[in-house]
Amino acid sequence: MLIPWHVAIIMDGNGRWAVKQSLPRIWGHKRGIETVKTIVQVADTIGIKILTLYAFSTENWKRPKIEIDSLLSLLVQFLKNETNKFIKAGIRLRILGDLSKFPQEIRDELNKVCMFMAKNTRFELNIALNYGARQELVHAFKEMLKHGIKNPTEQTISSFLYTAGQPDPDLLIRTSGELRISNFLLWQIAYSEIYVTDTLWPDFTENDLRIAISEFQKRERRFGGVNK
Ligand code: FPP
Repeated sequence: MLIPWHVAIIMDGNGRWAVKQSLPRIWGHKRGIETVKTIVQVADTIGIKILTLYAFSTENWKRPKIEIDSLLSLLVQFLKNETNKFIKAGIRLRILGDLSKFPQEIRDELNKVCMFMAKNTRFELNIALNYGARQELVHAFKEMLKHGIKNPTEQTISSFLYTAGQPDPDLLIRTSGELRISNFLLWQIAYSEIYVTDTLWPDFTENDLRIAISEFQKRERRFGGVNK
């Protein structure tokens, strides 16, 4: 059966999970990180080649400062803790998004962990941080202008996105039931299959990922054409 090469996930529902357990929201993010660890490992085992996770959107700055600070420090801690494991597993990390908004020390840490994994090629993990698809497109257009490109093709535009060089997601998963794209990979998901589950991200398991993939395998992808 066809395994999706590139899977993107909108990891939603951490806050609701915490509220359901009468815990502060940040506990939802802590549990969400445990799910990330499982899903990265399972995705790799299943044979997925690129996993893109939406960790922090350009809109998430509207959250209370304490939640933002805790979420970012959990994230950086996660990456530092996992670096050796990722290097051994052949995982390469790419951060998608505008990092200029982050404090210098966070940027340095992120650059450092990416550099450690730069030679890996077997599995690519993209983490979208201060990411918004419209911002990404604006950034790409500005870059094209800087390069004097006046007549871009679709390929040219793709090559100026944060996902440059990677094939578009075959499957987009969203947890916790909302039927929205939330400014995620607008260009890249033009032909992605979309799978939404009511499961909250901290409750999302290996089995849920396998169910999403088997749903994907049942879909008939026509890319606007007609299948014989
Ligand atoms: C949505 O839940 C989730 C986020 C805004 C952050 C996602 C981050 C993680 C899972 C942890 C760190 C990520 C990585 C890649 C290590 P929400 O807070 O919007 O939940 P709600 O909609 O129930 O309030």
